[in-house]
Amino acid sequence: MQSLQKVQVRLGKRSYAITIGGGILSLLGEQLTPLGFSPKIGIVSNPTVFRLYGKTVMQSLRNAGFEPFSVLIPDGEKYKTLKYAEKILTKLLQERLDRKSCLVALGGGVVGDIGGFAASLYMRGISFVQVPTTLLAQVDSSVGGKTGVNHPLGKNMIGSFYQPRLVWIDTETLKTLPRRELLCGIAEVIKYGIIWDERFFAFLEQMREKLLSLNPDVLSSVIKTSCSIKAQVVSKDEREGGFRAILNYGHTVGHAIETETRYQQFLHGEAVAIGMHMEAKLANRLKLCDKSSVIRIRKLIASYGLPADMPEGLDAERLCLHMKIDKKAESGRVVCVLPERIGAVRIEKNIDVKTISAVLS
Ligand code: NAD
Ligand code: GLY
Repeated sequence: MQSLQKVQVRLGKRSYAITIGGGILSLLGEQLTPLGFSPKIGIVSNPTVFRLYGKTVMQSLRNAGFEPFSVLIPDGEKYKTLKYAEKILTKLLQERLDRKSCLVALGGGVVGDIGGFAASLYMRGISFVQVPTTLLAQVDSSVGGKTGVNHPLGKNMIGSFYQPRLVWIDTETLKTLPRRELLCGIAEVIKYGIIWDERFFAFLEQMREKLLSLNPDVLSSVIKTSCSIKAQVVSKDEREGGFRAILNYGHTVGHAIETETRYQQFLHGEAVAIGMHMEAKLANRLKLCDKSSVIRIRKLIASYGLPADMPEGLDAERLCLHMKIDKKAESGRVVCVLPERIGAVRIEKNIDVKTISAVLS
């Protein structure tokens, strides 16, 4: 086993550790022993992930003296709903979890979001632990405490800020992840380089082959740096009063693309990849960022096999309309995170829709 990497999320009494390592799933149980949880532990997962990793996690918890049971929701974003959150809660009641119980979320961002949300509601809040198994969940959704479900009127519109007690990342779980899902996580990784750390961006330029072939040391290092950047942002602005919004770089255009294509054509990370390139071009048009940075951003995104350019046939005016009603918009004005250079961004709150439209056309 490789050495473990640790990142601390500093939030006063709600602080917690993220641990990263290869093959550490079977060590989960002993991590939970000192936390004083009741013996019964619920594991929220889906059939795809549970088939692969459920046995190891259940056995690890049993070895540490816990009595685990599973609560499975079907695999897919469309099941991240209040209805399935209620199903999870019903199972927790049937199993008679108490206030000192813990819920483990084993899976990607869907399972983590709904699992954390259920934990925040059960008896007004019980402990939960994130065991993320997609790269996107390992570098983004399992860290920072945003939990929630979708509503027919909007994605992620119902939720709470609720921090996990710990995040336990086994990089070996990524070996079974479909390539397209892996690349979606890489899009968020590239985002951290652009918003925060030019050296990390350069590392991603150099380590493409090793990262894509899941070299254990490179993978651990990339996940550690990503989590550390997210942890620093969240520690400064846990509830997105303002600063945390820098994590939305690429997402204003990305969400508009997802909405316009009805979530059918692109996975989230793919839409964000195009969004990051378009928002860099927008920054250049507004004279905030030089052309060479835009070219470098496009090149890195494309080198990982992610889409970077606007897909044929999408109407720029319609995309702008979506941006104006997005939850990040303020009174109909488009809010966008724009790079000033690689490693630094600013939040622009009053962008002229015509300028965006020109960039997207
Ligand atoms: P996901 O949870 O749907 O997982 C993607 C697919 O991979 C699923 O089919 C899943 O079953 C499968 N899978 C997971 N781990 C696997 C493994 N190790 N091997 C094989 N298959 C595996 O998608 P995601 O990209 O992880 O997460 C997307 C969700 O995260 C969205 O709902 C989004 O809103 C949310 N999100 C939340 C935050 C946050 O801060 N809370 C941030 C970003 C995204
Ligand atoms: N994924 C954006 C955030 O956690 O704020």
